[in-house]
Formats: sequence, C-alpha cells, structure tokens
Amino acid sequence: MDFATSTTFLFFLLLLPFSAVAQTDDGRNDVGSSLTATNDGGSPWLSPSGDFAFGFHPHAGLFLVSIWFDKVPNKTLVWYAFENGSPILAHAGSKIELTAENGLVLLNPRGDQLWKSDIATDEASYCVMNDTGNFVVRSRNSDVLWQSFDHPTDTLLPTQILGINGKLFSRQNENNFSQGRFQLSLQTDGNLVLSMVNLPTKLVYEGPFYTSDTNDAANESNSGFQLIFNGSGDVYVLRRNRRTSYVRTGVRVALPTADFYQRMTLDFDGVFAQYYYPKRSTSVENWTTVWSKPDNICNRMGDRGSGACGFNSICRLNENGRPTCRCPPGFSLLDPEDKYGSCKPEVELDCREDERIPMEDLYGITVILNTDWPGLINDYEKLHPYNEQDCETACLRDCMCAAAIWKDDNCWKKKLPLTNGRVDDRFTGKALIKITKGDRTRRPSLNLPNADEVKNKGTLIAVSTLLGTSMFLNFALVGAFCLGFFSIYKKKLSKVQEIGLELNNLQVFTYKQLAEATNGFREELGRGAFGIVYKGKIEMRTVAVKKLDRLVRDENLDKEFKTEINIIGQTHHKNLVRLLGFCQEKEQRLLVYEYLSNGTLADYLFKNTKPSWNQRTQIAKSIASGLLYLHEECSKQIIHCDIKPQNILLDDNYDARISDFGLSKLLMMNQTQTKTDIRGTKGYVAPEWFRNMPVTAKVDVYSFGVLLLEIICCRRSVGVEENAADFDGDSSVLTYWAYDCFHGGTIDALVGDDMEAINDRTSLERFLMTALWCIQEDPYLRPTMKKVTQMLGGVVQVTVPPDPSPFTTAAESSSLNISCI
Ligand SMILES: *[C@@H]1O[C@H](CO)[C@@H](O)[C@H](O)[C@H]1NC(C)=O
Ligand SMILES: *[C@@H]1O[C@H](CO)[C@@H](O)[C@H](O)[C@H]1NC(C)=O
Ligand SMILES: *[C@@H]1O[C@H](CO)[C@@H](O)[C@H](O)[C@H]1NC(C)=O
Ligand SMILES: *[C@@H]1O[C@H](CO)[C@@H](O)[C@H](O)[C@H]1NC(C)=O
Ligand SMILES: *[C@@H]1O[C@H](CO)[C@@H](O)[C@H](O)[C@H]1NC(C)=O
Ligand SMILES: *[C@@H]1O[C@H](CO)[C@@H](O)[C@H](O)[C@H]1NC(C)=O
Repeated sequence: MDFATSTTFLFFLLLLPFSAVAQTDDGRNDVGSSLTATNDGGSPWLSPSGDFAFGFHPHAGLFLVSIWFDKVPNKTLVWYAFENGSPILAHAGSKIELTAENGLVLLNPRGDQLWKSDIATDEASYCVMNDTGNFVVRSRNSDVLWQSFDHPTDTLLPTQILGINGKLFSRQNENNFSQGRFQLSLQTDGNLVLSMVNLPTKLVYEGPFYTSDTNDAANESNSGFQLIFNGSGDVYVLRRNRRTSYVRTGVRVALPTADFYQRMTLDFDGVFAQYYYPKRSTSVENWTTVWSKPDNICNRMGDRGSGACGFNSICRLNENGRPTCRCPPGFSLLDPEDKYGSCKPEVELDCREDERIPMEDLYGITVILNTDWPGLINDYEKLHPYNEQDCETACLRDCMCAAAIWKDDNCWKKKLPLTNGRVDDRFTGKALIKITKGDRTRRPSLNLPNADEVKNKGTLIAVSTLLGTSMFLNFALVGAFCLGFFSIYKKKLSKVQEIGLELNNLQVFTYKQLAEATNGFREELGRGAFGIVYKGKIEMRTVAVKKLDRLVRDENLDKEFKTEINIIGQTHHKNLVRLLGFCQEKEQRLLVYEYLSNGTLADYLFKNTKPSWNQRTQIAKSIASGLLYLHEECSKQIIHCDIKPQNILLDDNYDARISDFGLSKLLMMNQTQTKTDIRGTKGYVAPEWFRNMPVTAKVDVYSFGVLLLEIICCRRSVGVEENAADFDGDSSVLTYWAYDCFHGGTIDALVGDDMEAINDRTSLERFLMTALWCIQEDPYLRPTMKKVTQMLGGVVQVTVPPDPSPFTTAAESSSLNISCI
C-alpha cells in the first residue's frame, strides 16, 4: 500500500470508525465494506481496470447510487438504483454498505434503509465492480446473488443480455432520471419492441415505434429469447434455434471492447442507439453513434398516445435521426420546460358561439406543408373530391374542426388533441390549421409563417411533381401509405439482413441509397483501375463507395459477381480494407468500403518529410501480413495483381491496409486471359505478364518487392515524368539501382540522410535483401509471402540475393539520374 492509498485509508477509518472500507487488489469488497456520499460523491469502488466505478454520483443536489464510465468525461452513467419508476436519490452522508443478509443496502444519514439489492437466499460475502461494468454481489462460494446486469435501467453494456420480459426504460428527460414515456422490452413472444408507456399505470400502448420481428407464433423455436450485446459490440436478438437477428441495420462496425467503450442506451427521446467512445484519448470529445433505432421515430401509427412528441405537437427528424418537436401555429407548449411535451391550443373551439357571427370573422387558417396527423385517431370526417379552398372553408365553418389535411382533392377534418403529428418531406399534403383571428394572426392563409415552411414549399412542389398526384386516392390510402411505407421499409431492411447473412455480413444497397449516401457522387476520393471512389455517409459512418466501371456486363455473370464479392466479403484481416457492402442493380456495380482517413501510402511515402524508418518497417510488415492472408489464409486464394502504394491505405494509426483486392478477377471475368491485357501498374508488374508464363501469386510478391524498395528508399520506382508509352514491360529502374547499391556495398545511398535507417543497419540490410529476393525475374526464385513475412520479421535468415534481372542491363538506371556513390 503506497502512501497515498494508506492516507486515504486512514482518512476513511477516521471518517467512518465503525465500518471497514477495504478494496482488495482484485476489486473485491467484503461484507462490511461501505461507501459514503460526501459532497464530491466520495471515492467509488472501481473495477480493476478503473474503467467502471460504483458509488454515489452527484445528481440534482443529491446522489444516485450508480455505475458509470469513470474514464469518460462527464462520467456517463450506465446504471442507477431504481425502484417503481424512480431513481433512488440519497442525501449527502448516506451510506451504501454490503451486508450479509441483504446484500447492498442504502441507508440515509439517520440510518433508515432507502434501498437494498434483493439477494437470493444465500448470504453475501463480497461484491466486485467488474471490468465489464457489471456490479456483482457474490456468496462465500462465489455464486452470483445479485448483479446490476440483471437490473438494467436505460443502458446495456457489451456482454450484457436482456432476457424475456427484460426491459429498458427511457428517462423523463436529459436531467430527470424518472421513468419516461418509452420502453424497450423483449416480450414473452420473443419480439423486441419499443413502445410508448402511459405513466403512471405503465400500460404499454399499441403502435410500437420499432419491433425486431423476432416472434414466430407458428414455430416457437424460431422466436427470440435474448437480446445480446456481445463482446465485439454486436447487438442482436438470439432466437431459440440460435439464429440471430441484428438490431442494427446497415454496415457492421467491429468495435473491439479493448479499444472502445461502448453502450446501448434507450435515450429519453425514444431513440435507442449504440454508442462508442475511444479508450485512448483522441480528438473525439463525445460518444459517437454507431446506429440508432427506430429509423424514423416520428412515423408512428398508434391508436393511443401522443407519439414521439406530445399531443398536438409536430415531430420532425433531425439530421442525426433524432426527433425534434414543435408546436403548430396557434399552439404553445403546455410545460414550457418540456420541449418534447404537449402543445395547448390558443383557439377555443366553442360550438355554442353565436351563429350570427360568421366563423370567418373569428378564425383564420394557417397552412403548413408536408405535415400530417395521420390516421383514424385524428380524423372525424372526410370530404372528397374537394379543393383546397373548400377544405379550408369547411374547417373554418365547422366549430369542431381544429385542423384539416388537404391532399389530392381529399379533405380530412381533424379533432383535438392531434396525435402522432409529423413533418415529412415525402408527405405532399398540407395541414390547414385553425387559428384565432386577431392582430397576431391575421388570416394568414398561404402566408407562410416562417422560412422553414417556405423551404418546405419548394420541396413540396418537387416531390409532388415526382410522385404525380394519383397516388393517394382516399384517406385510407394515406393511412395505408404511412403504414405501408413503414412496413415496406421494414421488409426491405429485413430482406437486406437476410442477404447480408448469406453474404457474410455484406450489406446489399440499392443504387439510390448509395447515390444518396454520396450526395449524388459528389466528393471524389480517387480514381483507380476499376473506377472512381467517392466519399459517402451511411448510418453516420463515413464510407468509400467505389463505382466499378470496367466490368464486363453480362447477366450470366451476376452470380459470379456475387461469388467474387462474397469471397472478398469473407476476408477479415487488420491489414485489409474491409468491404462493407455492394450494389448490383442493372448496369451498376458499386462496392462500399470502410473509409480510411489517412490517405494512401503513396501520398505518405513520397511527400517531402519522410515517415520514420520505424514506421516504414511497420508498414512493410503489415502489407506483407495482409498479402500473406490473401494468398494463403483466406478461404479462397486471392491474387491482388495490382500491389502499389496507391492501393495501400493508412488507418487511424498509420498502419497499412491493402485495398482493391479481389477485383482483378472481376475485371477479367468472361475474358480469356490474354497477355495483351495486363493487369497491374507499370513499374510494379512482374515480368511473367509479358512472357509466356503462368500468372501466380508470385506476381504479387514481385510487386511487393518493388513496393518494399520504395518504402525503404522513399522514392518512386518509376519517375513520374516517364511516359506510359515508353513502357516496355521491363522492370523499373529503382530495382536496378537498389541491386547495384547492394552489390556495390553502398546501401546507405538508398536511404539518403535517414540516420534512423542507417543506424538500424541489420534491419535495413534484411529488408533490402528481402526486396531483392521478391523482385527476382524468375518467379520460382521469389519467396512466398509466408517466407517474406518471416524474412522481414527476422524469423529466418535472409541469404544474399542474386541479381534480380540477370537478363537485362542496368543502363536505364541513368535515366533516373541517381547513383550509388
Ligand atoms: C468479470 O466478469 C467476467 C465474466 O463474467 C469474469 O470472467 C471475471 O472474472 C470477472 N472479473 C472480476 C474482477 O470479477
Ligand atoms: C422528475 O420527473 C418526475 C415525474 O415528472 C417528478 O415527479 C420529479 O420531481 C422530477 N425530478 C426532478 C429531480 O426534477
Ligand atoms: C420450426 O423451425 C425449425 C427451424 O428453425 C424447423 O426445423 C422446424 O421444422 C419448424 N417446425 C415447424 C413446426 O414448422
Ligand atoms: C459477437 O457476434 C458477432 C456476430 O454474431 C460474432 O461475429 C462475434 O464473434 C461475437 N463476438 C463475441 C465476443 O462473442
Ligand atoms: C455530445 O453529445 C451530446 C448528446 O449526444 C450532444 O448534445 C452534444 O452536442 C455533443 N457535443 C459535441 C461537442 O459533439
Ligand atoms: C460533457 O458535457 C459537456 C457539456 O454538457 C458536453 O459538451 C460534452 O460533449 C460532454 N462529453 C461527453 C463525453 O459526453
């Protein structure tokens, strides 16, 4: 025990003379251990790694008994003691103690019990804050008597499982931890459902915002029974027959728990989302959303309850997929503090009014576009055919009418309170809202209230032109549209999931989705042999979308395309760029890759300041390891055929990842391989392409050798000024030069003034000799990638290589104007 610990220890002994505060090195706290809520919260019980803490968390002047991420700024809470819909709030001086009979017990300063963990029959012996974020009370023989993972509040953590009847509750709002309006529950029938809950009876309303569709009444074994957030950050419903149904849609994001804190939280706005926060400090100052559900929480069709926003409110999805709520003109917030709450009308609908006063003098109509309160729950009358003006007048003169929706010659009269209101640019109808006439609201029909709506008008015109007008025939259809849209969308998603499972987690995209994701293929990231790569965004994740443009298009090849894509999709290696999904639609073939922000090795290597020798050797080893995987370790050998620094990307840690692998096969499809159709890039292609020799994985070894020389020398293998037309298929000059320097014993010249490399002469020689072995003209002399990785790693002795090109002269080396002396 060091000095600091022992002083803390003493301090606590003084503070709490009658309770032992002892946390052993493995984080165990024995019966009798306690924590006290002091003004700074007191020192909590930490997990061995220090990632999680259990203790008193200050909240609204009081304290919550809770678990939090201790190393994340703001110490995000993941659990809090909670009973009957309310968090347990403790005053300063309260104490939580581990007792044998009751497990954890929370006592107020007077010693009254506020809360206890209900433990099973046995006596508690110790408790521990686990590194997973689970706080566990165990018996003498280590049986689990109570654990926080069994009593989730609004958050799940990796390795946590929600069983049948398990529930997450949303908070009231950001700062009030009382149970809110939303609940995520794994129902008895196996369906994971996000619903509205009517407080205080907690009746769950029909019309869920989200369902996982994992119930199967016809076949029990096919129904879900666990919601799993596993150690790799995957969230899925596990069915009894072990099939999995992912909750996330879209791309799988592998987030190792070693590198990221993760959580899945049902937020107070009803959206549940998976978040991550990098463990090592980065510029990221916040939790990042991996995915969120439901896709559009504003699109509820329920027969009770207000929807994501309160009654009479209008819900609109913001760019983060979160609901924002707004009162319509003529309405204002019931509770000005509760932005997500209900709106009260300023109009008093009074049918006893003197009928001699024309309604038009009392009321006006204000119009908002793309807005709807759909469904029978809101309607009481429908008029058809009816033009907009007549619809307006009809509502105005009807003392019961609070608003009307007009769309395509249909006029639906709506009553109060309005529910499930939403703005959706795809809805081309108009809301005609009755307002009281007065100075503030002079008959403002079509006198659009604010810029927001003016903008929407543009959208309205555009959308309605696109859709035509005959689509919505009657009210039922509008309802059906919303419902139908929802279910078509859901169907589409589940189909995608199915295909995704078939294709190893590759997601199938439509062309339209990718066009949207890339903003109409706007931002070009690069051009390669296979097409142009664009930057895009899918489900908050930046991706690189490659539009293949040189594929042979033939319907018979569709299957082969899928086969190849599937092979690429099966590759999983840290030095390969991950393929996330693809699109195969008519003429279009697109591939969606993870996006790597640090650009290509070419840019990194050939800029003015050289990357360090250490970094370069690491990069070389990584590329070798990736290639070895492609050649020997994946289910089917993949020959890259175009290894060059432009095809190596750098990840966040500047480690190398090979891209574009598996594509040469696609390019070759349906073409008999002819020698005139060389794949690869000048300067990197192996000589056998030009000779009548079979093309094997050794072509990649050759290209890797050239690349390795470039990495060693930070110099391009071919001068940029060289013209492609001059290219006769012979090796590039860097290779001659390197051999000459090696042969002449002047290898320092290769690295110029790079002292770090010169001082690491053994490695430098080893790398150089390995490269020279790789670029042997005779493919049989070249080592395999396995051998190459061993050579680079110093696992095997590297022998002196022969002249790589004994049949060619080195005369060309003068063209680069470099020498070894
Ligand atoms: C934490 O939980 C894991 C999984 O249940 C277990 O293997 C590990 O021993 C626990 N750690 C501690 C410190 O109790
Ligand atoms: C949180 O909301 C509940 C229910 O609306 C209310 O009773 C409670 O006082 C609120 N708590 C705080 C700290 O505001
Ligand atoms: C239920 O589904 C399983 C596969 O999940 C299948 O093997 C079984 O035949 C099905 N049973 C019925 C009654 O359809
Ligand atoms: C989590 O689930 C995914 C998908 O089912 C699986 O690939 C991965 O191996 C699992 N991770 C752990 C730690 O179980
Ligand atoms: C951090 O996240 C919170 C909640 O998700 C959000 O309100 C806030 O704007 C974010 N802050 C930054 C700097 O991104
Ligand atoms: C911490 O809180 C501040 C202010 O509320 C916010 O800007 C920041 O994003 C939060 N950080 C995290 C990691 O949630």
